[in-house]
Amino acid sequence: MLTRKMIDKLMKRIYLLLFVLSSCALAVSAQEWIVPAENGAKLSTFAFTDSTRTAGGNLFNLNCKSCHGDPGKNNAVKLVPPPPDPASLQMQKNSDGAFFYKVSVGRGLMPSFKNTLSATDTWKIISYLRGFNDKYVQVLAKQLAPGISLEQVTLLLTWNKEKKQVQVAVSSLKEGTRQPVAGAELKLFAQRYFGNLQVDEARATDSQGVALFNFPATLPGDSTGMVQLLVKPTDETAFGETKTLAALEIGVPTYRPPLNEHRALWNVNQKTPIWLLLTYVFSVLTVWALIVYVMLQLRLLFKSGEENDPDKQNI
Ligand code: HEC
Repeated sequence: MLTRKMIDKLMKRIYLLLFVLSSCALAVSAQEWIVPAENGAKLSTFAFTDSTRTAGGNLFNLNCKSCHGDPGKNNAVKLVPPPPDPASLQMQKNSDGAFFYKVSVGRGLMPSFKNTLSATDTWKIISYLRGFNDKYVQVLAKQLAPGISLEQVTLLLTWNKEKKQVQVAVSSLKEGTRQPVAGAELKLFAQRYFGNLQVDEARATDSQGVALFNFPATLPGDSTGMVQLLVKPTDETAFGETKTLAALEIGVPTYRPPLNEHRALWNVNQKTPIWLLLTYVFSVLTVWALIVYVMLQLRLLFKSGEENDPDKQNI
């Protein structure tokens, strides 16, 4: 039987629990969103104009409005933590780079738009949202030499046989002719099963527009020694988003057994060693036995409590 006292005690515990849970939720929601300094300093390469704002507005309505609501109307969807109103101080105090970073990577319920929106589209959305901030004055990213458009930058990836290094030549179209781009810092990656492996340090192009990378002699390639390479500028806002993929025959030929081959991992039941199977079954059974044992003990406890209940004995 439940007495008044017991109910009071129970309610107190529930309140305490709710208090603890809600403070946890608050603590999580109040966590600051840290943006790495180099990302926070990123700037748009094009000026925000009426046409970028219009395009950005359409992109915002398609991708963001469902959660953030209309700028300035405070009609965002109620989530924890809440999506801030784009016109609010919380949103507008982000630097352009921080804005860009947060939209690209996302956090919690805020999705990552890295693979959905191009950098240009993301900047257009930012240009639209800055339109709700009277105090905003745009600072543009430093540009390449005058007359060079970012879209026209190309990277040529080859193997320099004499120097035994990976060579990247950067050029750009200027008044119809190809010109070398000097001082562009580049990063080279080798594509692996899981993500990219950076090869050598970042290197800058010389006055000929050429950068050379040391390539480790021991890096495994595919069965014919092919390695997929990726090169891109470190500073995309200054040198464009251009990247180049190329396969060069410079790795150590490596044979990788297909997953269904006999000696590959235990990917099918027949290949599982018997000791692994037994250990697994035994562990699962032990866990279940423990659960059942605890339940039985709890039941015994409950029963003995019922028998000794003073309310019952008084009847
Ligand atoms: C599914 C819902 C959802 C969508 C869609 C969405 N957001 Fe968000 N956004 C959130 C939530 C929730 C947060 C708060 C995240 C946090 O603080 O952990 C947030 C936070 C942000 C922030 C950081 C605000 C701050 O505190 O500095 C920015 C900037 C932002 N969103 C921009 C955008 C843009 C631009 C789009 C569209 C391209 C977009 N969001 C789409 C839910 C969404």
